[in-house]
Amino acid sequence: MEGTDFLQGSDLNEAEGKVTGRNHARILSARKDLIGKSLSLSYREPLLIVRGEGQYLYDERGRAYLDCVNNVCHVGHCHPRVVEAASRQMAQLNTNTRYLHPNIIDFAERLTSCLPAPLEVCFFVNSGSEANDLALRLARTFTGERDVFVIDHAYHGHTGDLIEISPYKYNGPGGPGPSVFTHQLSIPDGYRGRYRWGEPELGLLYAREVGEKTAKLAADGRRPACFIAESIVGCGGQVVLPSGYLAAAFEPVRQSGGVCIVDEVQVGFGRVGSHFWGFETQAVVPDIVTMGKPIGNGHPLAAVVTTREIADAFANGMEYFNTFGGNPVSCAVGLAVLEVLEMEGLQQHAFEVGEHFKKELGELQKRHSLIGDVRGLGLFLGVELVRNRESLEPAGPETGQVVELMKERGILLSTDGPYHNVIKIKPPLVFSRDDVASVVENLDEVLGRM
Ligand SMILES: Cc1ncc(COP(=O)(O)O)c(C=O)c1O
Repeated sequence: MEGTDFLQGSDLNEAEGKVTGRNHARILSARKDLIGKSLSLSYREPLLIVRGEGQYLYDERGRAYLDCVNNVCHVGHCHPRVVEAASRQMAQLNTNTRYLHPNIIDFAERLTSCLPAPLEVCFFVNSGSEANDLALRLARTFTGERDVFVIDHAYHGHTGDLIEISPYKYNGPGGPGPSVFTHQLSIPDGYRGRYRWGEPELGLLYAREVGEKTAKLAADGRRPACFIAESIVGCGGQVVLPSGYLAAAFEPVRQSGGVCIVDEVQVGFGRVGSHFWGFETQAVVPDIVTMGKPIGNGHPLAAVVTTREIADAFANGMEYFNTFGGNPVSCAVGLAVLEVLEMEGLQQHAFEVGEHFKKELGELQKRHSLIGDVRGLGLFLGVELVRNRESLEPAGPETGQVVELMKERGILLSTDGPYHNVIKIKPPLVFSRDDVASVVENLDEVLGRM
């Protein structure tokens, strides 16, 4: 996996026309001085990454790293067709959406053709946070209510309103706890949650809490504005929702006039393999869907798609202006991503490679007692490490160590979950069977030495 390019730090900066001589150590030290300390870096020894191609990232010495975590560069880092679409449009025009332009229409048409009715009205924004923030505004304007149901340990974005509905943040270091409008639901985790795989009607058991909390709100004379959930709980540890969960959770919310938002920022666009959207695996149609990360393959693009009724209620006289959202360059990029997904059959590829990957990880689990659970759909997988398979004592430090050791071997992984003991796997969809073999072989050796 050694790369062929050999870019020195100074060559890189010359090429970019920037200040020369910025090597690894200088960038690290300047970053400490110039960039807010709350922005973290990955790995004990952070990487200086200067180039990406397909499922590989390259450091300043030309060493290749197999990227198993960047679900943003969905169709592969620097996909030529996406780069070409962006550069061509960038060279021609980029403006806000107050002029007529075909790109926004072409993209909206193509995007809504991937969604079930009645999800037919689009808003284009620049990040997953903006998408969820707008979704929250849509829900609150439509219902006239403020209360939100959210799954424990969820992350939905970095704006003030979203921190208030992201237990991952408000219950984490520096967090202020939930707001009075936030109502937290248990993670429907069949591996270590309150109810476990094997229980009949697991989805319904977990969803009961939504009905109970809706009734409690009603007793206080309140009604929910919305329920928001990812269709696979990402930051909560790659937790696949038990079947029937979303349908049963939606019911009491809708009955009391609330709307149901599904956050597809991590898992949308064919990643789950069997379907284009994660929510389809739960056989539901949300009222609002939010998209981000993969939609622009690394370009800052995100979207909210909703029903006409909800969108119309939002048009209450206050203009929705977004300087960058929906600009011709972003829309050209979004369209190119959808074209590449189709032309290269990447959803089917994610299904096949993902199934194979999960099977191989299952084989590893037989040999290494540290692996407690292997889960996920398509190319959105999680490997949960435990010190004891009976007590499920989380192996948090060991998980961090595995990720560091894999990085030394040129394979990039990350951790998440309430106990930081879940290895997250969510590579660009061009990930191959050979890549799977490489990850599994190295993981086997690393776990063998733990
Ligand atoms: C599920 C989910 N929603 C929303 C966001 C926010 O997206 P962004 O970082 O693009 O603002 C994230 C980011 O990690 C996410 O994982």
